[in-house]
Amino acid sequence: MCGIVGYIGPKQATDVVVKGLSALEYRGYDSVGVALIDQNQTGQVIKQAGRVENLKPLVKQQAGKSQLAIGHTRWATHGLPNSVNAHPHSNNAKDIFVVHNGIIENYQEIKDRLTEHGYKFYSDTDTEVIPNLIDYYTARSKTFLAGLKAALNDLRGAFAIAVITTREPTTLFAARFSSPLVIGVGNNEYVLASDPNAIMAHTKDVVFLEDNDLAVINQTSLKIIDFSRSMPKKPKLELLDYDQEQAALGHFPNFMLKEIYEAPQTIRAATRGRVLADQGIIKLGGLESVNKQLNHIDRIVIVACGTSYYAGLVGEYLIEELANIPVEVQLASEFKYRKEPFSRATILLAISQSGETADTIAALEKAKDFGCLRLGVVNAIGSTIARLTDAGVYTHAGAERAVASTKAFIAQVTVLTLIALHLSKGENKDYRKLLNELSLLPQKAAAVLEQAPEIKRITIKYMDKQDFFFIGRGYNYPCALEGALKLKEISYIHAEGYAAGEMKHGPLALIDKDFPTLALATDSNELAKTISNIEEIKTRNGPLIIMASAGNKKVASLTDDLIYLPKTMEQTQPILSAIALQLFAYYIAEAKQLDIDHPRNLAKSVTVE
Ligand code: G6P
Repeated sequence: MCGIVGYIGPKQATDVVVKGLSALEYRGYDSVGVALIDQNQTGQVIKQAGRVENLKPLVKQQAGKSQLAIGHTRWATHGLPNSVNAHPHSNNAKDIFVVHNGIIENYQEIKDRLTEHGYKFYSDTDTEVIPNLIDYYTARSKTFLAGLKAALNDLRGAFAIAVITTREPTTLFAARFSSPLVIGVGNNEYVLASDPNAIMAHTKDVVFLEDNDLAVINQTSLKIIDFSRSMPKKPKLELLDYDQEQAALGHFPNFMLKEIYEAPQTIRAATRGRVLADQGIIKLGGLESVNKQLNHIDRIVIVACGTSYYAGLVGEYLIEELANIPVEVQLASEFKYRKEPFSRATILLAISQSGETADTIAALEKAKDFGCLRLGVVNAIGSTIARLTDAGVYTHAGAERAVASTKAFIAQVTVLTLIALHLSKGENKDYRKLLNELSLLPQKAAAVLEQAPEIKRITIKYMDKQDFFFIGRGYNYPCALEGALKLKEISYIHAEGYAAGEMKHGPLALIDKDFPTLALATDSNELAKTISNIEEIKTRNGPLIIMASAGNKKVASLTDDLIYLPKTMEQTQPILSAIALQLFAYYIAEAKQLDIDHPRNLAKSVTVE
């Protein structure tokens, strides 16, 4: 959440930083700013509420020549999204500048202490204490670095910060604790960022900072110090595995549509080299090191947030049915509060697109004490969750930029199907059939995409509705939850997902001619019961949109607004249903002319608890 960029090198630093901020804007976009040290070694801050696009002309007009700058795009936690609360923040003397991701939990205590020493505060942020705390300690230390280390050791909570100061005009400082930072190592230049998206245009050589790392960066050198122990560390150089192509929009109007249309290739990428249908095997290299332990599982607990949580719910149905192992899916944000018994034979499986979600990280940290195996289904390679887990399976969906997750869900569910099949050891009756179906799925996903004009035609009729239900049974139930989430995220229409069988236990009371329901009624053993629920809604004049399996005439008589999906197996249905639901939400948001990639109040990567 929030994006940090920093640059030191021969180029105009603010150009690199502003470009980097555009690449990180999906992390937060309510205000934005840069700080630089210009050729006269004077500090300058340019910041305002709004988007990077609005900041660009200001930076062009006002920024002096500079080889050292930092920048930030914000998702407000403490204080309104206005120009005072926007980062960078400076100390009272205005010679130390800081950008910050995360939350300083003891900021009030520090603020009170500093106030007693005469410091003044102008913003509502927790961040503003940082430059003043650095100021306080540096005034009492021999060097700026010593003061900075002392300040870092006072901060509690999660943070990634970048610091520049006119007192050290040729040095970029950066530190992390529980919030990611990565340094791109170029030719006599370094680009610092809170995620690799801002770096990949410059270099693939990177150093990921670890907790308690303080980086001291000059144009020609990078030093890392463990600030908690004041010990130097050797920077560990890694190669970024990133495809720049994926970061470009191409002919699509926005990233969400582009990413929905990437579904077929996403399924291919998630199954490539893993589904060997001709040999009848699933090969998951990422689990090889723990395969022995996988023979003795008593239960799997899945933890995740948002869309990844709903993918986890699909995983629950898959693993229980195919591998006969009990599964429980928990919201990562609640997992930490439960005092449940946890055996060593239980596996904790974290699902995350970004690999940086704070609640999911906290769940993994908690499970460390249980001594159980911790697995990950993660998209972002090298992310914190990928590093924290003992083993896992990457989803290989590539960079996902739109805030509302689409192809990542498709990839997560695909990978969870593979994990379920792997855990089944080929013993489930549907094993072979499913291997085969998985290889046909990219084509079927493409066939769903061909329905886009029809989905668009139907959705537009509903763009002015205030409320929506999404219902389904079995594998379609978690899909209904995800469909409702997608709609509320990008169209701001109130939407709720329900198990179809639950409608009569309360929600049905809301149904009238203005309250539409989207029913997932694809072929399954539960279809007859879902049809009864649909009839109950119809009888009460509730408008209905139905998604059904191709050729199912029985369902066709229930509504005019029918979307046919290609026939598939029940276990793979969520993947095809999800694509249609994503298009449904997308076209409503498009008709309402909303900013689809950047829904209000949300952010792509939620790095605060
Ligand atoms: C945010 C995003 C969602 C995402 C959720 C979990 O809320 O807007 O799209 O599903 O975080 O993120 P993760 O990266 O852990 O999957």
